[in-house]
Amino acid sequence: MTATTIPQIGLGTFRLQGQVVTDAVRTGLELGYRHVDTAQIYGNEADVGTALAAAGVPREELFVTTKIWTDNLAGDRLIPSLKDSLHKLRLERLDLTLIHWPSPDEVVPVAESMAALAEAQRQGLTKLIGVSNFTIRHMEEAIAAVGADAIATNQVEIHPYLPNRAVVDFARNRGIHLTAYMPLAYGKVVTDPVIARIAAAHGASPAQVALAWALRQGFAVIPSSTRRANLAGNLQAARIALSDADMAAIDALAQGPEARLANPGGLAPRWD
Ligand SMILES: NC(=O)c1ccc[n+]([C@@H]2O[C@H](COP(=O)([O-])OP(=O)(O)OC[C@H]3O[C@@H](n4cnc5c(N)ncnc54)[C@H](OP(=O)(O)O)[C@@H]3O)[C@@H](O)[C@H]2O)c1
Repeated sequence: MTATTIPQIGLGTFRLQGQVVTDAVRTGLELGYRHVDTAQIYGNEADVGTALAAAGVPREELFVTTKIWTDNLAGDRLIPSLKDSLHKLRLERLDLTLIHWPSPDEVVPVAESMAALAEAQRQGLTKLIGVSNFTIRHMEEAIAAVGADAIATNQVEIHPYLPNRAVVDFARNRGIHLTAYMPLAYGKVVTDPVIARIAAAHGASPAQVALAWALRQGFAVIPSSTRRANLAGNLQAARIALSDADMAAIDALAQGPEARLANPGGLAPRWD
């Protein structure tokens, strides 16, 4: 069967290059990951493609996401850039293609990029389309352009220190799914004493607890790891059933905007 929904747990590949990313994806696929998240700007699509080709997992079982870089958001650039990504990934079609960041300084209107993405979908280059790092205002513009039903996810930073509640509430109200990126706060959650206490009570790892917290809210999660044991543990996070008290204790870890890790100058929008 062909996957038309986003698998709950995916494998992130940000920062991973060359043999490191090929090994991480190969190990992940061996362990049972079927959802892999890359992006044009990661510079690793070809290495991810090598791992996908070598793994021999039937194409219809895989769910591969890429993200269109800001240089390629214009109506005449998006589809050619996506074809280049497909070539590197050695795929005929993506499962999900996202606008990676809203166009800095609104150089390209959201409506123009969304129309190009919808056209890519019509041409069969990607099964699903969506957005990433979109604020409420950007989501409103994307909804006006293609309709909420067409937007498969908004991939945003979400972890216990940054629950991103305004964006989450808006997306939920419009029926837009969310994907939590940096769900481990780039590893910071594993040393958190509250999370460690909950993990010990469940016989789980802290990373599993942080992922279970996000999964229970209905988000997909895309943790990355270069280590087999961590990849294996993260994939089992859906088995952890957190109580309401656990959820409340983790919710209480929320910090202010300073907890945001992905906030590149010149690129990040004015966050909600
Ligand atoms: N759309 C966007 O703009 C955007 C931005 C950032 C990230 N992302 C996506 O989100 C993915 C995840 O984000 P991320 O990779 O930055 O951060 P992350 O997944 O929150 O954290 C990764 C770090 O946590 C460590 N780790 C992983 N599993 C662990 C475990 N079970 N126990 C202890 N440590 C563990 C990893 O180290 P080891 O390798 O040693 O395990 C790595 O240093 C990215 O790879 C990318 O695909 C998207």
